[in-house]
Amino acid sequence: MRTFNVGLLGCGVISRTYAADIKAFYPRLNIVACADVNRSLAEKLAREFDIPKACVTEELLKDEAVEIVVNLTPPQLHVALDRQIIAAGKHLFSEKPFAQSVSAAREILTLAEKAGVQVGCAPDTFLGSGLQSLRWYLDKGLIGKPFFVTANMTTFGYETWHPNVEPFYKKGAGPLYDMAPYYLSAIVSLLGPIESVAAYGTRGLEKRHLYLGPRAGEEIAPEIPTHYTAILRLVSGAVVNLNVSFDIYRSTLPMFEIYGDGGTLTYPDPNFGGGAPRVYRKEQYLDPLFRDTDEARARKETFYELPELFPRPKDYSRGIGVLDLARAIETGRPNRAGGELATHITEAIEGLIESAETGAFYRMCTGCEIPEPIEPGQALGEI
Ligand SMILES: NC(=O)c1ccc[n+]([C@@H]2O[C@H](COP(=O)([O-])OP(=O)(O)OC[C@H]3O[C@@H](n4cnc5c(N)ncnc54)[C@H](O)[C@@H]3O)[C@@H](O)[C@H]2O)c1
Repeated sequence: MRTFNVGLLGCGVISRTYAADIKAFYPRLNIVACADVNRSLAEKLAREFDIPKACVTEELLKDEAVEIVVNLTPPQLHVALDRQIIAAGKHLFSEKPFAQSVSAAREILTLAEKAGVQVGCAPDTFLGSGLQSLRWYLDKGLIGKPFFVTANMTTFGYETWHPNVEPFYKKGAGPLYDMAPYYLSAIVSLLGPIESVAAYGTRGLEKRHLYLGPRAGEEIAPEIPTHYTAILRLVSGAVVNLNVSFDIYRSTLPMFEIYGDGGTLTYPDPNFGGGAPRVYRKEQYLDPLFRDTDEARARKETFYELPELFPRPKDYSRGIGVLDLARAIETGRPNRAGGELATHITEAIEGLIESAETGAFYRMCTGCEIPEPIEPGQALGEI
């Protein structure tokens, strides 16, 4: 694969993970510039990660050396900036959410097609070693036919670690737009597209106290529900319950489990690229009926850890989706974290919000191919 020149747009919290991981693990991605609406933030990132050019948005988009722009700005700005990135003739990789509506998502894809550029979107965590290993085990039938998934993103918002949380409590963000994409893309990439959704939304807290950043000590009122409890049915017939929350201090709910007619697979956290799946097979449950020994009874109580089948350079990592986009640009093959998947996830989120507002089930209009799996046995950065 040839080397692609990448520009980072938005030099805040997550830009540091992208810069560090791309530099450390993906030598075919060469970060040639970074930009922010605030030039000094771009200069700071450039100094920290030895990026040759720091500039503002307009300069980045005019830079002929930049081939792929990675949009790492706040959620509500993605679509407006994506339009500019595409108009400048750059390939686009956007952080999630891809868009706040299917119509906006489609507009971006149409603009990109007309401009002859390609589009990728986070989350790319489903391309990491943990979820790709889970995929391999599922596809091999390790738990038989999956019929139920539980996915639980139970956190207490961002205000104890993020200096600029306000956008995350405004319309167009919140736990559904900001965190559900990790869980939804994991589900769709493992089990296929969604057929219908329903949800209730609520708020655990009416005010959020800001602990960090320039407004530390102030309180803000969220514009949106900060907790959603949802159900989904997949085209395969499998059903899902999904909880996404910024209101839960601590929970013992599993973050991600898949149940099949032959057993259960459990996974630590779809927000992370790495993580060893664990399995419980039906034989463990049934064996003590035939051989009532201490050993059989102990196995009946145990989940067994499965090896990860791909390199895991870090647990929490970003950037593999940008590599996947670069591979697609070079080979003409569709990228896995691509526009069709991002539009399907956008519709699911829009549908969940609509359902929470109307009390009715929402039937999905978009579909999506299951992204091609990564083959085990390859070196780090080969996808
Ligand atoms: N923080 C995380 O851990 C994390 C993890 C995964 C994904 N994300 C996603 O990444 C995106 C950015 O999140 P963040 O936490 O880094 O936010 P942030 O607020 O820390 O950084 C955003 C940066 O964008 C800049 N910006 C604002 N308007 C701009 C414009 N018009 N042009 C150029 N730059 C502009 C801001 O000055 C800021 O430096 C969000 O969509 C978020 O959902 C964040």
